[in-house]
Amino acid sequence: MSSQDPPVVRVGEVAQYEGRAVELRGWIYNIRSSGKLHFLQLRDGSGIIQCVVFKGEVTPEIFTKAGELTQESSVIVRGEIRADARSSLGFELGVESVELVGAALDYPITPKEHGIAFLMEHRHLWLRSTRPHAVLRIRGTIIDGCREFMRQEGFLLIDAPILTPAACEGTTTLFETDYFGDTAYLTQSGQLYMEAAAMAFGKVYCMGPTFRAEKSKTRRHLTEFWMIEPEMAFCDLAEDMEIAEGMVLHVIQRVLADCQTELAVLERDTAPLERVVAGQPFPRLAYSDAIDILQGKGSQIQWGSDLGGEDETLLSEDFETPVLVHRYPAAVKAFYMKQDPDDARLALCVDMLAPEGYGEIIGGGQREDDLGLLEGRIAAHQLPREAFAWYLDLRKYGSVPHAGFGMGIERVVSWLCGLKHVRESIPFPRTLQRIYP
Ligand code: 4AD
Ligand code: MG
Repeated sequence: MSSQDPPVVRVGEVAQYEGRAVELRGWIYNIRSSGKLHFLQLRDGSGIIQCVVFKGEVTPEIFTKAGELTQESSVIVRGEIRADARSSLGFELGVESVELVGAALDYPITPKEHGIAFLMEHRHLWLRSTRPHAVLRIRGTIIDGCREFMRQEGFLLIDAPILTPAACEGTTTLFETDYFGDTAYLTQSGQLYMEAAAMAFGKVYCMGPTFRAEKSKTRRHLTEFWMIEPEMAFCDLAEDMEIAEGMVLHVIQRVLADCQTELAVLERDTAPLERVVAGQPFPRLAYSDAIDILQGKGSQIQWGSDLGGEDETLLSEDFETPVLVHRYPAAVKAFYMKQDPDDARLALCVDMLAPEGYGEIIGGGQREDDLGLLEGRIAAHQLPREAFAWYLDLRKYGSVPHAGFGMGIERVVSWLCGLKHVRESIPFPRTLQRIYP
């Protein structure tokens, strides 16, 4: 770069450069020509700016070359940043030169409408479009908000392994892989490892991909999804619910504060999200009361069954905020859940159900801290005891009441963005039918 070269600037920063010459690097989002003018919409990941090529202001060669640019060709453009009240950005670029970096021929995603199957098949390219951009920016803010909340609350990030010797969330959804002649599984949850870490550090969390061989084809299930999982020593169910509520509120507030542009792109009505913030504290509802409410609303559900997706939607209709349903029957829940000392049929667990039909976004609760009861649960679930020997050690050496939860990132992204299907909430979704691209 010589001393005369203009500064290289991102579209998101152009406001600071009004009246100055700059260099922008990006891709042609769209192009329109009318006689003496070419209008290039240039996107660089941080925004889109209109670049105006005026015949009277550039050499004939540059004018011709600019007119031949195609959608998604990559370019380096130089010119002056000018105020432009008509554009949403408020600025445009008066082009002085355009350099083609890589041509794009017949880009498959055109400004016309495409079906979701076509777009998913071209997800690697679709990521460049406005809608995925808005969703993935909100996803980034949600993850950032979770981490920020954990930091504020004094939690330490401890990474959990992906390859594991045992099941955490039931043996029916395990992805199996060969491990040098032994069998290993892709992790379903980092929880058991977070329990070990909580006994070492007090308050910890992990955040990473988790895997479930979900054979169900629903709008809420992925086979690979991301979870944030806090775990706390000396913590009971009530305190666990408070942290879960605090995290969700923090994340919504961050999204409302930072992502108004993205929410508008998605045409997300933000009033229901504002009402969640205004409506705190979230109601706590015992499972048994939830069953009464559901039966009152005509559901066929019987005491003892887990809530299905439809029950969750029916129940959450009555609430403008998420609702925390606690103390499910132990028989329908995972082996590690602590028995309710007041009713041995129940587990000290909680599910947070989002409003607007988005269903379960959080699952968690207090863990069984009694060695004998936990051994009984492992046996009752027919889990291999050897694989859990280390986990049982945590109950042998200074066991304490402890609790935690897992929040599904994609479920929260879907809810806050108002998506119809969870597949749009993650950059490259993996579902029963899809592992490409
Ligand atoms: O309720 P789950 O299965 O709980 C656990 O895995 C606990 N071990 C977490 C813990 O206590 N540390 O899953 C937690 C959350 C669900 O509430 C849901 O939001 C999300 O993970 N989830 C899924 N999201 C997308 N696709 C799937 N197949 C999901 N399964 C669970
Ligand atoms: Mg669950």
